[in-house]
Amino acid sequence: MENPGFEMQEDGALSFSSKEAQAKTNKCSPYLQEKQNSSSLLKIFLVCLLASVITTLVGVLVLALVYSGQRSPKKEVEIITVKETVEKTTKTVEKTTDIQFQFLNHLTKSKVFEFQGGAIQWARYRKNAKDYSSDEEMKFGASINNQQSKMTVGTLQIKSKGLRVPHWHFNANEQGFLLQGSAWIGVIDEGANTVVTYNVTAGQVIFFPRNTLHWLKSVGNEDCLFLLFFSTHDELQTLDVDDVFFSTPEDIAARSLKPQGGVEFIRTFKRPKEDQAINLPSNLVELIQSASYVQSPADHVWKYFYDLKGSKEFKFPGGIIQWARYRKGGIGLNKNESIFSESINEHADTLTLGTLRIYTNGLRQPHFHFNAHEMGYVITGCAKIGIIGTGPSTDFNIGVGDVFFFPIGTQHYIKSICDEDLFMILAFSTGDQLETLDMDDYFHATADHILAQLFLKKQEEFKKIPRFNDDQAVNLP
Ligand SMILES: *[C@@H]1O[C@H](CO)[C@@H](O)[C@H](O)[C@H]1NC(C)=O
Ligand SMILES: *[C@@H]1O[C@H](CO)[C@@H](O)[C@H](O)[C@H]1NC(C)=O
Repeated sequence: MENPGFEMQEDGALSFSSKEAQAKTNKCSPYLQEKQNSSSLLKIFLVCLLASVITTLVGVLVLALVYSGQRSPKKEVEIITVKETVEKTTKTVEKTTDIQFQFLNHLTKSKVFEFQGGAIQWARYRKNAKDYSSDEEMKFGASINNQQSKMTVGTLQIKSKGLRVPHWHFNANEQGFLLQGSAWIGVIDEGANTVVTYNVTAGQVIFFPRNTLHWLKSVGNEDCLFLLFFSTHDELQTLDVDDVFFSTPEDIAARSLKPQGGVEFIRTFKRPKEDQAINLPSNLVELIQSASYVQSPADHVWKYFYDLKGSKEFKFPGGIIQWARYRKGGIGLNKNESIFSESINEHADTLTLGTLRIYTNGLRQPHFHFNAHEMGYVITGCAKIGIIGTGPSTDFNIGVGDVFFFPIGTQHYIKSICDEDLFMILAFSTGDQLETLDMDDYFHATADHILAQLFLKKQEEFKKIPRFNDDQAVNLP
């Protein structure tokens, strides 16, 4: 199945993990020297020099110890400490080179996998380091995999009348947001007991539980553009129905389908040269005599669909949040929305999705999540983002088409810095209720004599931090 855009089967003998690859490029190797500028070259030279000096010292120390025959446990501990220090120093230099790419991926600038009927781009983990098109992509892929993010993201563009052919994913749920166009969706569940079909338009959400068979047909006049989240940080494993068909022995296919003409009929199927993953045959008008796009009843549709754009707007001084998420007991949801809420909660490893609009100069204030990693995609506007984790903290700017990643527990903020509103789609790796704590809330909740002792500052000073009636989650100066 030569299908580089979608296939993500386990690679064979050639593959080696990106960690190993990173380790290779990160030592004082010629690889690295080619790519660094002169100042970091100097740094690396100094680190290498330091390392060799310390290694020599350690060697001398070891020799001295061996020859004097005094290998007391205490001395061994000292040696180990010296070695660790060398490793730590080297690591810090590696990390500060481009730490931001652990959290940032320029998705729209990434490699485009083209098909007759459309294209796909990815921000994902690759088992074989050679499958990344840049070091930056590798940093991001390794980071979401190391953090066990349970998320991968990609864009799927389908030309008008094009079809992402029927397929299923072995190892991930799929939750998508339609950015543009309109599509007709089909979902077939276990035993084909229900076939759910529905139209989706821009601003709405689709959900395909793991291994449900599904298709997406672009039905509007303009191209469709989906942003798709898959609930895995490993390589996505996918099978397309045509690939499976052509891999099934003809007599077995004939026995399964029992067509008129038997195996002779099966032999009339010819496998096209081009990968059909997203197809758009030139003779489509001849092929299709009549198409009907039926809509299943609402209680079926909403298991796999959510009208995010039409859902309740949560307004804050600096912006608006809307959610496609699980709520216990369906609180705040209408009947349709409750069906979706229950549906994502009853499947394992689903995601909470939301859109966040932040007005110019608005701030999604510093906060963190107890129970989810977060990934986001910028639809309009631009922002400055800051992340504080247990490693070195970092901040950087993001613009349209960028993907960002906040590992669970890291404190992060998003400040809208363009004239246009910042508008983003966010995904959180939980199908339960998201748990969040904002910086102003934990400051107010901490006793002021504790703050006084913490910051070595008079208790009464903390009265200067006011409380507001409005929730300041997204605020303005
Ligand atoms: C779905 O979209 C197609 C193409 O725009 C349209 O012909 C059809 O009526 C729509 N179906 C429903 C149920 O809205
Ligand atoms: C539920 O969704 C269907 C379309 O899927 C719509 O026709 C109906 O009005 C919705 N009901 C409510 C209560 O929003």
